[in-house]
Amino acid sequence: PGGTTVDERGELLVGGHRVTELAGRFGTPLQIVDLADVRRRCRAYRAALPGAEVAYASKAFLCRAVARLVDAEGLSLDVCSAGELAVARSVGFPGWRVLLHGNAKTPEDLKAALAHRVGRIVVDSLDEVDHVAALARDRQRVLVRVTPGVDGGTHAAVTTGVEDQKFGFPLSTGAAAAAVRHVLRQPSLRLVGLHTHLGSQLRRVADFELAARRLVALLAAVRDEHGLELPELNLGGGHAVPQLPGEDDFDLAGFAHRVRAAVHDECARHRLRPPRLTVEPGRALVASAGVTVYRVVAVKHAVRTFVAVDGGMSDNPRPALYGARYLVRMVGRPPAAPLRTATVVGRHCEAGDVIARDVPLPADVRAGDVLAVPGTGAYHHSLASNYNLVGRPPVVGVDNGAVQLLVRRETEEDLLRRDVG
Ligand code: LLP
Repeated sequence: PGGTTVDERGELLVGGHRVTELAGRFGTPLQIVDLADVRRRCRAYRAALPGAEVAYASKAFLCRAVARLVDAEGLSLDVCSAGELAVARSVGFPGWRVLLHGNAKTPEDLKAALAHRVGRIVVDSLDEVDHVAALARDRQRVLVRVTPGVDGGTHAAVTTGVEDQKFGFPLSTGAAAAAVRHVLRQPSLRLVGLHTHLGSQLRRVADFELAARRLVALLAAVRDEHGLELPELNLGGGHAVPQLPGEDDFDLAGFAHRVRAAVHDECARHRLRPPRLTVEPGRALVASAGVTVYRVVAVKHAVRTFVAVDGGMSDNPRPALYGARYLVRMVGRPPAAPLRTATVVGRHCEAGDVIARDVPLPADVRAGDVLAVPGTGAYHHSLASNYNLVGRPPVVGVDNGAVQLLVRRETEEDLLRRDVG
């Protein structure tokens, strides 16, 4: 998928750069991100949604280069911790274009956000409203996160639009309206809108329409109860990307058209001025820009053929967490045998450490070969861990002709530094 191409010799290119050359230069495992591809997608979003705010959900992948790029493209930034905010601050990302999310923002998160004067804090519990209200000055702008009771039909672990999960204030029970009332009682806060996020890897535009209509109805109820027209409606992210061949891309044009039409229609019914829309794509901006490169350590012909690589669930826990599927490509030499089914596994000490189950690979794949896994730009580096005390891979950015190390490889020294006992 996405930012990768194959040249006349069958070599995989990312942003025009040979994957094998980058692997030779930076070692494996290696994560490559095509910044030009990210930039194109930022522009596509802004073009598809003129007048709307596009906030990049930085949990998908954040480093300073990406924060700079997102800033330069005029997007806002969704952060959900003081750590993500620190990266944004370190490149001078303007606070007014930052939104702070999270269901359990710590005092540190809130203090950092207020010190950096973030544009909006999306409140997720009554306790949090009290915490923000106690710390805030200057009428901090807030949005109330609402759970509209819409099931986006995705993996349970990333389903957030239904009422029985931890995020947001349920709409149907009146909790959302009560949260609005509670925020409006706080003199240090200024309520500017409503937020919802239905989940991740969503394809059905109709679900966004339904959620938007329900939130507009709540905007109308707020107007009726408090005489206040809230100017912002944030519909979250979750726009799917194709992971395997044959899967459709998210229908961004359809989303832009149909969701806007639904908002306008519902606003007209309630005689409301249409609010400004915000969307928060994470995956859609970066997933296809990323490629992970491994070296084969061992091949075992057991019950099936296992191809073990020098990374695994520490750089990609998504198969284990969500049953995510990937295609794997051998690069760097022409295969001398036809394709056969193999299971690509990692180096970690559990049987669930699988990168790709039963995928086609050349039958002569052997130790030392280089394997590339496209479509790994979102929730890979950001979900990486040090399991088995393995250092996290570096991230190399390519940007047209330029190649730059963005995040260096984690060393043993890095790993030992925190162990102060
Ligand atoms: N806005 C909010 C409030 C979110 O919580 C998220 C993602 C997004 C926007 C962006 O969602 P996206 O467009 O990237 O789907 N680790 C999982 C995904 C978790 C998503 C968490 N929230 C995975 O690897 O699939």
